[in-house]
Amino acid sequence: MCGIVGYVGKSQALSLVIDGLRKLEYRGYDSAGIALAPDLQPENLENKLWVEKKAGKLSNLESQLTGEIPNAHSAIGHTRWATHGGPTDLNAHPHLDNEGKLAVIHNGIIENYLDLRKELEAKGHKFTSQTDTESVAHLLSDARKAHHGDLAAAMREICGKLRGSFTLLAIHADDPSRIVGARRNSPLVVGAGEGENFLASDVSAFISQTKRAIELGQDEVAEITADSIEVTNLKGEKLPLKEYEISWNAQAAERGGYEHFMLKEIFEQPKAISDTLIGRLGKEGKVIENNIDLKNISKVVIVACGTAYHAGLVGKYAMETWAHLPVDVELASEYRYREPYADEKTLVVAISQSGETMDTLMALRYAKSQGAKIVAICNTQGASIAREADAIVYTHAGPEIAVASTKAFETQIIAIYLLALQLAKVNQTISPELIAELEYEIESLPNKVEQILETVEPLRELTRKFKDANSMLFLGRHVGYPTVLEGALKLKELAYMHAEGFAGGELKHGPIALIDNGTPVVAIMPPANSIIAEKMASNIQEVKARGAVIIQIGDHKLASADHYIHIPTSPEFLQPVLAVVPLQVIAYEMAVARGNDVDQPRNLAKSVTVE
Ligand code: M6R
Repeated sequence: MCGIVGYVGKSQALSLVIDGLRKLEYRGYDSAGIALAPDLQPENLENKLWVEKKAGKLSNLESQLTGEIPNAHSAIGHTRWATHGGPTDLNAHPHLDNEGKLAVIHNGIIENYLDLRKELEAKGHKFTSQTDTESVAHLLSDARKAHHGDLAAAMREICGKLRGSFTLLAIHADDPSRIVGARRNSPLVVGAGEGENFLASDVSAFISQTKRAIELGQDEVAEITADSIEVTNLKGEKLPLKEYEISWNAQAAERGGYEHFMLKEIFEQPKAISDTLIGRLGKEGKVIENNIDLKNISKVVIVACGTAYHAGLVGKYAMETWAHLPVDVELASEYRYREPYADEKTLVVAISQSGETMDTLMALRYAKSQGAKIVAICNTQGASIAREADAIVYTHAGPEIAVASTKAFETQIIAIYLLALQLAKVNQTISPELIAELEYEIESLPNKVEQILETVEPLRELTRKFKDANSMLFLGRHVGYPTVLEGALKLKELAYMHAEGFAGGELKHGPIALIDNGTPVVAIMPPANSIIAEKMASNIQEVKARGAVIIQIGDHKLASADHYIHIPTSPEFLQPVLAVVPLQVIAYEMAVARGNDVDQPRNLAKSVTVE
């Protein structure tokens, strides 16, 4: 939610900040804005910042950037996902103090903003927006004066007064060579360059300029100039810089000839799976980055949201069968407020692509406070969820830019298979022969996904035939059930169309009433040797008999199928990795056919850092 970029250095700041915002636009696209601290003050600016902001996508702001724009070597920029105050020009960030000298951008929610606003208004501050952020600009302005112009000291002081979650960046016209940032429960990372430095929500904003990044912890304040980076805690104590090399390359965050990021990411899946498997199979394979005792675990709880939750549901089937452990899968937003029982024998697996999803982070913290061991499955190095877990399994999907998750889902499932097999090895719950066989099958998945991708064209054509349907239903059983939940989520998210996933066995308990003449039903048929193959075939018959048009996915065609999408044969537990690919393609194509914005669907954002 919201993308943030700050730049100070040798180059013109405007183009670098706009370029960074373009990379971060997936985080929010309700409005965008920029504040420049001019090198030389144009007369009409009276020593103020130069600010431009506009409702709508970043392109709206860009088309506004005409006429005389002052030279500036420092700037901050923001792309917004609205929480407090609608997506208007006035509510767009940056927000300024009453002198127009200090600008603030923010990601997160300031929970006590109304109290702060009342106090500030009583002191004479005038507000122009409905946002929670504007209170921070006024508060920081007063604190800076009290600290004789020391913006970092002012930032440390006000962080103590703010409740909620925030990444904040601030700049002041009287000290243009400095940007100050702070974070609590929202992401912020420093990009360390030569004669230039960056602050951003994530590394994709500056990866084309530098691959050196510095992690910031909870309640830390970073102060950057062109030649210096200083990180302190809220007491003002200087902290060592935790620098790391970014392994993604700049091209990975570009569209590379594809019409949409989502399509590119669908086609990157074989590689993402292979990368996630490297060094993790066989006797020498190492699945978890840090050492954690996997013995003496009595229960596993998987916490996640959205697509990551569906990956967790697939993981439950595999883990219960291979590792002989009871596994609960919980929506993170429900788990944390239920006060569920957990203890040191509970293994909590937090799954998150971004590693910043607030609900998942809070669920993790709750479980930790109860003494549970935490393993994170995460795609983003140094993200909060990865840092706060006891151990990590990184997925190596590379940057996922499209809001709809595809390759991250595949690699999350792979990571959870690996974790399940690790538990099975440690606790010797299945034979080494079966483990070797499963590992062999897992290793063959990238090739099989590749085969599916080579034959998607007819599926795209078929999808377009259903573009005017009011609704599409999805049927699956066993691991096919979480897979169809994911297929339905993708379709809702991208095509803005009613879509629901059902367990085949549940149909007769109510949902079958939805079936009407011509209702498109996408059904995943398990492999022929599955004990539920016949049951699923009957469920398909049941909907067909009531007028449904059957689009069947599987490794063998049923006579009842109106349309058949072939996927290679694999063991049943691994089938979701293959079966989800056609579902992603259906959702993608439907969004294109309906003229929707594929990479930035309405009302959504990639990284959900608010509750
Ligand atoms: O970054 P996370 O994996 O924690 O994100 C969780 C969900 O917000 C995410 O999977 C969401 O459901 C996707 N946009 C769905 O495509």
